[in-house]
Amino acid sequence: MLQRKILVAPSILAADFGHLADEIGRVIDAGADWLHLDIMDGQFVDNISFGPAVVKLARSLTTLPLDVHLMIQRPDHYVPRFAEAGADSITVHVEAEAKHDVTETLRAIRAHGCRAGLTLNPATPFALVEPYLPNVDLVLIMTVHPGFGGQSFRLEMMAKVDRAGKLRESLGANYDIEVDGGINPETGRISIEHGANVLVAGTSIFHTQDYAAAIGALRDCCDS
Ligand code: DX5
Ligand code: ZN
Repeated sequence: MLQRKILVAPSILAADFGHLADEIGRVIDAGADWLHLDIMDGQFVDNISFGPAVVKLARSLTTLPLDVHLMIQRPDHYVPRFAEAGADSITVHVEAEAKHDVTETLRAIRAHGCRAGLTLNPATPFALVEPYLPNVDLVLIMTVHPGFGGQSFRLEMMAKVDRAGKLRESLGANYDIEVDGGINPETGRISIEHGANVLVAGTSIFHTQDYAAAIGALRDCCDS
């Protein structure tokens, strides 16, 4: 099986918003592969973060892929705005509470020139995403309940990572498998061993002094 490069996607939700442009610059200089941008509307999740203006700011600072995670209701309505703001991939939730037609939204994301991602909450069975797998570029496995950074990784989500990998092979698909929530070098290693290749990390990067060391530790966590 093809060995995929491990990619580290810092989540700027954990950055110091008083110095956001500097924080983004620091994490880019420190070797980030992608930037992960968590969009929360206070409806789909119990928190409000930021919108397309911050994606546009990030776009003005880097050519790195911008990985936009929409934790919002009616993501279909907002896809054009996030695409115009500079998103490279847009990931949407499969749950009925997100209130959209998943097939149509995935199609719209690709029609806007972005990679299409699909994700699910810890409580949501993986079977719900399975029908869409032939039409996604990215599967994001939430390893915490979405809404807030700094929570503990849920080991039992690794069964979903296993399943995503198995189905990728049997379908002949090529999507990335990304994990999000409570990722540090230890939980990152576990995730990679189960088949994930993109690690989203907020706290374990931005709440340290040395971002390059934190990113390096995540990328190399399987080598040790
Ligand atoms: C949670 C977000 C995550 C979060 C990860 O709803 O989707 O991207 O920022 O933060 P940490 O790494 O602190 O768990
Ligand atoms: Zn996220």
